[in-house]
Amino acid sequence: MQYFNAFLKRKLYNKDGIYNLEVTDSSTKKVTDFYKITPFPNYKNDENKQTILDKGDKNLLAKQFKKFIGFNKDILEVGCGTGQLSIYFALGTNNRIIGLDPTIDSLKLAKNFSDKHRITNTTFVNADIFDDVLADNYFDFIWCNGVLHHTKDPYLAFTTLIKSLKKNGYVLIGLYNKIGRFRTLFRKYLSRIIGKRIFDWFDPTLKKLKLDKEEKNAWIRDQYFHPIESLHTLDEVLSWFDKNNLEFISSIPSSDFDYNYKNIFEKKNVGTLYSRVFNQFSMIFSRLGSDGGLFVVIGKKK
Ligand SMILES: C[S@@+](CC[C@H](N)C(=O)[O-])C[C@H]1O[C@@H](n2cnc3c(N)ncnc32)[C@H](O)[C@@H]1O
Repeated sequence: MQYFNAFLKRKLYNKDGIYNLEVTDSSTKKVTDFYKITPFPNYKNDENKQTILDKGDKNLLAKQFKKFIGFNKDILEVGCGTGQLSIYFALGTNNRIIGLDPTIDSLKLAKNFSDKHRITNTTFVNADIFDDVLADNYFDFIWCNGVLHHTKDPYLAFTTLIKSLKKNGYVLIGLYNKIGRFRTLFRKYLSRIIGKRIFDWFDPTLKKLKLDKEEKNAWIRDQYFHPIESLHTLDEVLSWFDKNNLEFISSIPSSDFDYNYKNIFEKKNVGTLYSRVFNQFSMIFSRLGSDGGLFVVIGKKK
Protein backbone atom coordinates (compact mmCIF):
# COMPACT_ATOMS: atom_id res chain seq x y z
CA MET A 1 0.00 0.00 0.00
CA GLN A 2 1.32 3.47 -0.89
CA TYR A 3 0.99 6.45 1.42
CA PHE A 4 1.28 10.19 1.04
CA ASN A 5 2.73 12.57 3.60
CA ALA A 6 3.13 16.37 3.46
CA PHE A 7 6.95 16.12 3.27
CA LEU A 8 6.74 13.86 0.20
CA LYS A 9 6.30 14.79 -3.43
CA ARG A 10 4.55 11.53 -4.20
CA LYS A 11 3.07 8.47 -2.55
CA LEU A 12 5.56 5.88 -1.29
CA TYR A 13 5.27 2.38 0.11
CA ASN A 14 5.59 2.18 3.86
CA LYS A 15 7.22 -1.01 5.07
CA ASP A 16 7.60 -1.60 8.81
CA GLY A 17 7.18 2.14 9.43
CA ILE A 18 9.83 3.24 6.90
CA TYR A 19 8.77 5.02 3.69
CA ASN A 20 10.36 3.22 0.80
CA LEU A 21 11.21 3.68 -2.86
CA GLU A 22 13.32 0.91 -4.33
CA VAL A 23 16.86 2.05 -5.19
CA THR A 24 17.55 1.30 -8.85
CA ASP A 25 20.64 3.40 -9.65
CA SER A 26 23.74 1.20 -10.05
CA SER A 27 26.16 3.67 -8.36
CA THR A 28 23.86 4.13 -5.37
CA LYS A 29 23.46 0.35 -5.15
CA LYS A 30 27.26 0.01 -4.95
CA VAL A 31 27.18 2.38 -1.97
CA THR A 32 24.26 0.64 -0.23
CA ASP A 33 26.00 -2.73 -0.68
CA PHE A 34 29.02 -1.18 0.99
CA TYR A 35 27.11 0.18 4.02
CA LYS A 36 25.05 -3.01 4.35
CA ILE A 37 28.21 -4.71 5.66
CA THR A 38 29.13 -1.99 8.14
CA PRO A 39 26.21 0.43 8.74
CA PHE A 40 27.61 3.85 9.62
CA PRO A 41 27.76 5.05 12.37
CA ASN A 42 26.99 1.86 14.27
CA TYR A 43 25.18 1.47 17.59
CA LYS A 44 26.80 0.00 20.67
CA ASN A 45 24.79 -2.63 22.57
CA ASP A 46 24.29 -0.31 25.53
CA GLU A 47 23.31 2.75 23.43
CA ASN A 48 20.40 4.72 24.91
CA LYS A 49 18.91 8.21 24.70
CA GLN A 50 21.50 9.61 27.09
CA THR A 51 24.49 8.21 25.16
CA ILE A 52 23.07 9.68 21.93
CA LEU A 53 22.60 13.04 23.66
CA ASP A 54 26.13 12.92 25.08
CA LYS A 55 27.65 12.05 21.70
CA GLY A 56 25.66 14.81 19.96
CA ASP A 57 26.62 17.39 22.56
CA LYS A 58 30.29 16.52 22.06
CA ASN A 59 29.92 17.30 18.35
CA LEU A 60 30.22 21.09 18.34
CA LEU A 61 28.54 21.50 14.97
CA ALA A 62 25.57 19.29 15.84
CA LYS A 63 25.14 20.98 19.22
CA GLN A 64 25.08 24.45 17.66
CA PHE A 65 22.76 23.27 14.90
CA LYS A 66 20.28 21.85 17.44
CA LYS A 67 20.36 25.01 19.51
CA PHE A 68 19.88 27.20 16.42
CA ILE A 69 16.92 25.15 15.14
CA GLY A 70 14.86 25.81 18.23
CA PHE A 71 11.40 24.21 18.28
CA ASN A 72 8.51 23.21 16.03
CA LYS A 73 10.57 23.05 12.82
CA ASP A 74 10.83 20.65 9.89
CA ILE A 75 14.33 19.23 9.60
CA LEU A 76 15.76 16.96 6.92
CA GLU A 77 18.91 14.89 7.26
CA VAL A 78 20.08 13.62 3.87
CA GLY A 79 22.22 10.49 4.13
CA CYS A 80 21.29 9.96 7.77
CA GLY A 81 22.77 6.43 7.82
CA THR A 82 21.79 4.80 11.10
CA GLY A 83 20.02 8.00 12.16
CA GLN A 84 21.98 8.79 15.31
CA LEU A 85 22.14 12.48 14.50
CA SER A 86 18.49 12.65 13.40
CA ILE A 87 17.60 11.09 16.75
CA TYR A 88 19.85 13.56 18.57
CA PHE A 89 18.07 16.47 16.81
CA ALA A 90 14.69 14.99 17.76
CA LEU A 91 15.36 14.28 21.44
CA GLY A 92 13.83 16.78 23.83
CA THR A 93 12.23 18.84 21.04
CA ASN A 94 8.95 18.97 19.15
CA ASN A 95 10.76 19.30 15.82
CA ARG A 96 9.82 16.91 13.05
CA ILE A 97 12.91 15.13 11.73
CA ILE A 98 13.00 13.30 8.42
CA GLY A 99 16.05 11.09 7.82
CA LEU A 100 16.60 9.96 4.24
CA ASP A 101 19.04 7.24 3.24
CA PRO A 102 19.17 4.59 0.49
CA THR A 103 20.68 1.94 2.82
CA ILE A 104 17.71 0.09 4.35
CA ASP A 105 19.96 -1.87 6.74
CA SER A 106 21.07 1.43 8.34
CA LEU A 107 17.54 2.82 8.50
CA LYS A 108 16.23 -0.31 10.20
CA LEU A 109 18.71 0.34 13.03
CA ALA A 110 17.48 3.95 13.20
CA LYS A 111 13.82 2.94 13.26
CA ASN A 112 14.39 0.16 15.83
CA PHE A 113 16.17 2.58 18.14
CA SER A 114 13.42 5.21 17.76
CA ASP A 115 10.70 2.63 18.44
CA LYS A 116 12.50 1.05 21.38
CA HIS A 117 12.97 4.43 23.04
CA ARG A 118 9.52 5.77 22.07
CA ILE A 119 10.87 8.65 20.00
CA THR A 120 7.89 9.79 17.97
CA ASN A 121 9.21 12.81 16.06
CA THR A 122 11.57 10.97 13.66
CA THR A 123 10.46 9.53 10.30
CA PHE A 124 12.76 7.58 8.00
CA VAL A 125 12.68 7.48 4.22
CA ASN A 126 14.53 4.78 2.36
CA ALA A 127 15.33 6.40 -1.00
CA ASP A 128 18.07 7.70 -3.22
CA ILE A 129 18.43 11.51 -3.15
CA PHE A 130 18.47 11.46 -6.98
CA ASP A 131 14.92 10.07 -6.99
CA ASP A 132 13.71 13.47 -5.78
CA VAL A 133 10.92 12.21 -3.51
CA LEU A 134 10.76 15.15 -1.09
CA ALA A 135 8.31 18.04 -1.30
CA ASP A 136 9.63 21.34 -2.67
CA ASN A 137 10.16 24.32 -0.31
CA TYR A 138 9.23 22.26 2.74
CA PHE A 139 12.11 22.08 5.25
CA ASP A 140 13.39 24.80 7.58
CA PHE A 141 16.82 23.14 7.92
CA ILE A 142 18.75 20.56 5.94
CA TRP A 143 21.78 18.73 7.30
CA CYS A 144 23.86 16.76 4.80
CA ASN A 145 27.28 15.85 6.18
CA GLY A 146 29.66 13.31 4.67
CA VAL A 147 27.24 12.20 1.97
CA LEU A 148 27.41 14.01 -1.37
CA HIS A 149 31.03 12.99 -2.03
CA HIS A 150 29.79 9.36 -1.96
CA THR A 151 27.33 9.95 -4.81
CA LYS A 152 27.82 9.70 -8.58
CA ASP A 153 27.07 13.41 -9.10
CA PRO A 154 27.46 15.58 -5.96
CA TYR A 155 26.26 18.76 -7.66
CA LEU A 156 23.09 17.13 -8.99
CA ALA A 157 22.44 15.66 -5.53
CA PHE A 158 22.95 19.14 -4.04
CA THR A 159 20.49 20.82 -6.45
CA THR A 160 17.94 18.09 -5.71
CA LEU A 161 18.08 18.47 -1.94
CA ILE A 162 18.09 22.27 -2.10
CA LYS A 163 14.70 22.23 -3.85
CA SER A 164 13.11 20.98 -0.64
CA LEU A 165 14.55 23.86 1.43
CA LYS A 166 12.16 26.71 2.29
CA LYS A 167 12.93 30.36 1.57
CA ASN A 168 15.11 31.64 4.47
CA GLY A 169 15.86 28.01 5.39
CA TYR A 170 19.42 26.94 6.26
CA VAL A 171 21.49 24.12 4.80
CA LEU A 172 24.69 22.58 6.13
CA ILE A 173 26.85 20.66 3.66
CA GLY A 174 29.94 18.66 4.69
CA LEU A 175 32.29 17.33 2.01
CA TYR A 176 35.79 15.88 1.68
CA ASN A 177 38.23 18.65 0.89
CA LYS A 178 40.54 18.42 -2.11
CA ILE A 179 43.47 19.83 -0.15
CA GLY A 180 42.53 18.97 3.45
CA ARG A 181 42.15 15.24 2.81
CA PHE A 182 45.80 14.91 1.77
CA ARG A 183 46.92 12.99 4.87
CA THR A 184 44.16 10.39 4.54
CA LEU A 185 44.92 9.88 0.86
CA PHE A 186 48.62 9.58 1.60
CA ARG A 187 47.91 6.80 4.15
CA LYS A 188 45.52 5.17 1.69
CA TYR A 189 48.18 4.90 -1.03
CA LEU A 190 50.88 3.90 1.45
CA SER A 191 48.65 1.07 2.70
CA ARG A 192 48.60 -0.38 -0.81
CA ILE A 193 52.38 -0.87 -0.47
CA ILE A 194 52.86 -1.52 3.25
CA GLY A 195 49.53 -3.09 4.18
CA LYS A 196 46.60 -2.28 6.44
CA ARG A 197 48.71 -2.18 9.61
CA ILE A 198 49.72 1.38 8.79
CA PHE A 199 46.21 2.50 9.79
CA ASP A 200 46.87 1.34 13.36
CA TRP A 201 50.18 3.22 13.37
CA PHE A 202 49.22 6.45 11.65
CA ASP A 203 45.44 7.03 11.60
CA PRO A 204 44.89 9.69 14.31
CA THR A 205 41.20 8.78 14.77
CA LEU A 206 42.05 5.13 15.46
CA LYS A 207 44.79 6.18 17.86
CA LYS A 208 42.73 8.86 19.62
CA LEU A 209 39.37 7.14 20.08
CA LYS A 210 38.94 3.89 21.93
CA LEU A 211 37.03 2.11 19.18
CA ASP A 212 35.93 -1.51 19.43
CA LYS A 213 36.76 -3.94 16.62
CA GLU A 214 33.53 -3.29 14.70
CA GLU A 215 33.82 0.49 14.93
CA LYS A 216 37.46 0.32 13.85
CA ASN A 217 36.53 -1.79 10.85
CA ALA A 218 33.67 0.59 9.90
CA TRP A 219 36.03 3.60 10.09
CA ILE A 220 38.79 1.94 8.02
CA ARG A 221 36.34 0.81 5.34
CA ASP A 222 34.65 4.22 5.20
CA GLN A 223 37.90 6.18 4.99
CA TYR A 224 40.10 3.97 2.85
CA PHE A 225 37.98 1.49 0.86
CA HIS A 226 34.89 3.39 -0.22
CA PRO A 227 33.67 2.52 -3.76
CA ILE A 228 32.67 6.13 -4.56
CA GLU A 229 34.51 9.17 -3.28
CA SER A 230 35.10 12.66 -4.69
CA LEU A 231 36.96 15.72 -3.40
CA HIS A 232 35.74 19.33 -3.36
CA THR A 233 36.76 22.89 -2.53
CA LEU A 234 35.21 25.85 -0.76
CA ASP A 235 35.09 27.82 -4.00
CA GLU A 236 33.27 25.00 -5.73
CA VAL A 237 30.56 25.00 -3.05
CA LEU A 238 30.37 28.81 -3.21
CA SER A 239 29.65 28.53 -6.93
CA TRP A 240 26.94 25.91 -6.17
CA PHE A 241 25.41 28.41 -3.72
CA ASP A 242 25.50 31.22 -6.30
CA LYS A 243 23.83 29.12 -8.95
CA ASN A 244 21.08 27.98 -6.57
CA ASN A 245 20.12 31.25 -4.94
CA LEU A 246 21.78 30.59 -1.59
CA GLU A 247 23.54 33.12 0.56
CA PHE A 248 26.86 32.06 2.09
CA ILE A 249 26.67 32.14 5.90
CA SER A 250 29.87 30.53 7.17
CA SER A 251 32.27 27.64 6.79
CA ILE A 252 34.70 25.46 8.70
CA PRO A 253 37.52 26.02 8.02
CA SER A 254 36.80 29.70 7.80
CA SER A 255 36.68 31.33 4.37
CA ASP A 256 38.35 34.41 5.87
CA PHE A 257 40.89 35.01 8.65
CA ASP A 258 38.21 34.91 11.36
CA TYR A 259 38.58 31.68 13.32
CA ASN A 260 35.76 32.16 15.78
CA TYR A 261 33.52 29.12 15.33
CA LYS A 262 31.34 29.76 18.39
CA ASN A 263 28.33 30.73 16.28
CA ILE A 264 28.47 29.05 12.91
CA PHE A 265 25.05 30.41 11.93
CA GLU A 266 26.23 34.01 12.19
CA LYS A 267 26.94 35.56 8.79
CA LYS A 268 30.69 35.62 8.10
CA ASN A 269 32.84 37.33 5.50
CA VAL A 270 33.43 35.16 2.44
CA GLY A 271 37.10 36.27 2.35
CA THR A 272 39.33 36.09 -0.71
CA LEU A 273 40.60 33.26 -2.88
CA TYR A 274 43.89 33.60 -1.00
CA SER A 275 42.30 33.25 2.48
CA ARG A 276 40.17 30.31 1.35
CA VAL A 277 43.09 28.41 -0.21
CA PHE A 278 45.29 29.20 2.78
CA ASN A 279 42.71 27.84 5.25
CA GLN A 280 42.07 24.70 3.22
CA PHE A 281 45.81 24.10 3.04
CA SER A 282 46.05 24.60 6.82
CA MET A 283 43.55 21.77 7.28
CA ILE A 284 46.40 19.33 6.55
CA PHE A 285 48.09 20.39 9.78
CA SER A 286 44.98 20.65 11.97
CA ARG A 287 42.38 18.30 13.47
CA LEU A 288 40.24 18.78 10.36
CA GLY A 289 42.95 17.16 8.24
CA SER A 290 43.73 14.41 10.71
CA ASP A 291 40.03 13.43 10.94
CA GLY A 292 39.62 12.84 7.20
CA GLY A 293 39.56 16.35 5.74
CA LEU A 294 35.85 17.16 5.95
CA PHE A 295 34.91 20.80 5.47
CA VAL A 296 31.51 22.29 6.15
CA VAL A 297 29.64 25.15 4.48
CA ILE A 298 26.40 26.73 5.71
CA GLY A 299 24.02 28.60 3.43
CA LYS A 300 20.63 30.29 3.58
CA LYS A 301 18.04 30.17 0.81
CA LYS A 302 17.19 33.64 -0.54
C1 LIG B 1 29.73 8.29 5.55
S1 LIG B 1 28.04 7.92 5.73
C2 LIG B 1 27.54 9.35 6.66
C3 LIG B 1 26.39 9.07 7.54
C4 LIG B 1 25.99 10.27 8.39
N1 LIG B 1 25.62 11.41 7.56
C5 LIG B 1 27.10 10.64 9.34
O1 LIG B 1 27.66 11.74 9.19
O2 LIG B 1 27.40 9.86 10.22
C6 LIG B 1 27.38 8.30 4.11
C7 LIG B 1 25.86 8.06 4.01
O3 LIG B 1 25.42 8.59 2.75
C8 LIG B 1 24.40 7.77 2.27
N2 LIG B 1 24.26 7.95 0.82
C9 LIG B 1 25.09 7.51 -0.15
N3 LIG B 1 24.58 7.75 -1.38
C10 LIG B 1 23.39 8.39 -1.17
C11 LIG B 1 22.38 8.88 -2.05
N4 LIG B 1 22.49 8.74 -3.38
N5 LIG B 1 21.29 9.47 -1.51
C12 LIG B 1 21.19 9.63 -0.16
N6 LIG B 1 22.11 9.16 0.72
C13 LIG B 1 23.20 8.55 0.22
C14 LIG B 1 24.89 6.36 2.62
O4 LIG B 1 23.87 5.38 2.59
C15 LIG B 1 25.48 6.58 4.01
O5 LIG B 1 24.53 6.35 5.03
